[in-house]
Amino acid sequence: MKWQSKIIHPKRNVSQKFESLAFPTYRGSTVVFASHEVVRDGWRDNVTDYSYGAYGTPTALELGARIAELEGAKHSFIVPSGQASIALIYLSLCSAGNHVLVPSTAYGPNVEFGTRLLQQYQVEVELYDPLIGGEIQDRMRPETALVWCESPSSITMEVQDVPAIVEAAHQKNVPVALDNTYAAGVLFDAFAHGVDVSMQALTKYAAGHSDVLGAGFRGCFKRLFGCIRRAHPARSGHRVCQCPPNIQDRLELGRRNKLSHGLSTSGTSR
Ligand SMILES: Cc1ncc(COP(=O)(O)O)c(C=O)c1O
Repeated sequence: MKWQSKIIHPKRNVSQKFESLAFPTYRGSTVVFASHEVVRDGWRDNVTDYSYGAYGTPTALELGARIAELEGAKHSFIVPSGQASIALIYLSLCSAGNHVLVPSTAYGPNVEFGTRLLQQYQVEVELYDPLIGGEIQDRMRPETALVWCESPSSITMEVQDVPAIVEAAHQKNVPVALDNTYAAGVLFDAFAHGVDVSMQALTKYAAGHSDVLGAGFRGCFKRLFGCIRRAHPARSGHRVCQCPPNIQDRLELGRRNKLSHGLSTSGTSR
């Protein structure tokens, strides 16, 4: 190899034996493949681990896996910001003619996205009293496609009766998405309370409220997972982070134990 090529194709000498608490930051858009054949003959966008930096690097997948583990989710997606994940959840689950319920105290740009932008696409977003609890069933319509919760709510901190809202929504087969930013995925166990998709802005608790933008959202609903994966910019789902099966089993067991110890209904902590 000529020196000019060597400069841009360095040989890696990183020891696999090095363990550190800090996970390395992998940066880069181009992914290097072992050979041309791998790409030409074996390219399967949905099974290749990495194909393009924007579709996921080991750092992004590790982040997603850790968030999934923390929240007890089966899958997670990492996106550039909290608002991006809110938009993606709407766009994955709603289509023209649908109706969506959002608490009036939700994060402002969520409300604006829903009530202004989605109107252009014939999606009607209706605001509801965050303390409505099970009475939300009176707001449900045949065309309701999604119910949002945000608990505690932005700024005013209303704590919603999430299980009652979930119960009413699920009776109509409607999924519930939770903006779990304030509880950060640790103070409220979204999935143990029946939530289908949980998102959090990583700007906040996870990143120390200072200098990082990002968001993760997680799902435990097989049907929704497919919808979200279809709408995700990495269409093949490269940024889908799955907990290894043993972690999933552990989490499932932990959740069942928690539920059987009576932590299933009111806002709970881990
Ligand atoms: C509750 C809540 N959800 C979502 C967001 C959006 O996050 P981001 O600023 O990363 O778009 C914020 C940000 O302030 C927030 O407070």
